[in-house]
Amino acid sequence: MNFVTFLSVFGGRLQLLCLLCSALPALPACSALPACRHVHVADRCARPGPPLLCVHQDFPPLSFRLISYKKRKPFYSILECFLDAARRHPTKVFIHFEGRAFSYAQVDRQSNQVARALQAEARLKEGDTVALFLPNEPNFVLSWLGLAKLGCPASLLNFNIRSKSLLHCFSCCGAKVLLTSPEMLDAVKEVLPTLREQGIRVFLLSDSCSIEGITALSDKISEASDEPLSPELRANIHIRSTALYIYTSGTTGLPKAAVVTHERVWAASFVQAASGTTAEDIFYLNLPLYHSAGFLIGLAGGIERGLTIVLKRKFSASQFWDDCRKYNVTVMQYIGETLRYLCNMPKVRLFLTLSGKFLHFSTSNSFACAEREREEPQSPNRHRERSPSRCLEGVPESIRGH
Ligand SMILES: *[C@@H]1O[C@H](CO)[C@@H](O)[C@H](O)[C@H]1NC(C)=O
Repeated sequence: MNFVTFLSVFGGRLQLLCLLCSALPALPACSALPACRHVHVADRCARPGPPLLCVHQDFPPLSFRLISYKKRKPFYSILECFLDAARRHPTKVFIHFEGRAFSYAQVDRQSNQVARALQAEARLKEGDTVALFLPNEPNFVLSWLGLAKLGCPASLLNFNIRSKSLLHCFSCCGAKVLLTSPEMLDAVKEVLPTLREQGIRVFLLSDSCSIEGITALSDKISEASDEPLSPELRANIHIRSTALYIYTSGTTGLPKAAVVTHERVWAASFVQAASGTTAEDIFYLNLPLYHSAGFLIGLAGGIERGLTIVLKRKFSASQFWDDCRKYNVTVMQYIGETLRYLCNMPKVRLFLTLSGKFLHFSTSNSFACAEREREEPQSPNRHRERSPSRCLEGVPESIRGH
């Protein structure tokens, strides 16, 4: 393995604005934003130095792409981009998950089956919102793609929420259908009486279900045809249509729904391209897919690049390095604390000697440890002797913690 790039989405909004400013520095908002003066455009951002942000030199052309998508008819969505990738490299692995590999073509065909089963059972039509209450697994991606093929927005419910919050998120987006999996069944059963009162239909990704009011869908999915669905089904979708509903964490009160249009999906998906990720990269995605960082930057960005994703149920510091070796991971997306956990692992310093090249894409200075390792002359045993605190030198107090 050559190197793992750490893609930080901490403070993502500021970064997006700064990316925009790097392309269009004349915008009034840009001069008002001191951090953006440090935006630095480079070919791969291997040398962090003083700039706070490092932007790939391909970024300015990306903004023109977004402008061209606004005019393109029929509308070219992230789904069409996925379908193009599946035509271009059908056998390429799209998702690695717990030892199973799903190729682009396989995900395309299976999502056709999901779309057909939902179309037949839930009578979905373009514009109907469906709430996804699913863990981080390939079914999440298949279900979302299936819905996109029907022109249906997906409401991405946080799989940790329960009872009142769950009902609240569900009713915010106006969905009449809930799609869930056996892992979430207890949480769904708790709110099932209310859902039934409201006439909500609940579908379960399982072969059978004996609970009244829940329809098992997996057998119907496997019996459904995997032939492509007509683009006519989504003919009225345009760049300002709602693609997704994503919720705030709700730490202070009930979660709030954010309406994510196709335009926002595109803009956020460009973060990967803007930081130099390519189709050859293997992207480690351990962030929750119900969240904008994981879904828009990780998944949609991965589709935009046509790369391979290693999908994880959740972040595990103890599995991380083994996964990197096993799957030849080259990019890892992290938020906030993740890097500290990794820096505290005994293996990290050994690993950093292999890597040598890091992408600086962070509003914090959290790569100081990696960079220091890289710039100092190498000796075989030196890295093993380092203490974890050494690794955190230069890391801001706020993330240094304990
Ligand atoms: C990782 O790379 C090695 C060496 O190029 C290769 O043999 C192996 O099959 C790759 N692993 C995966 C999961 O693609």
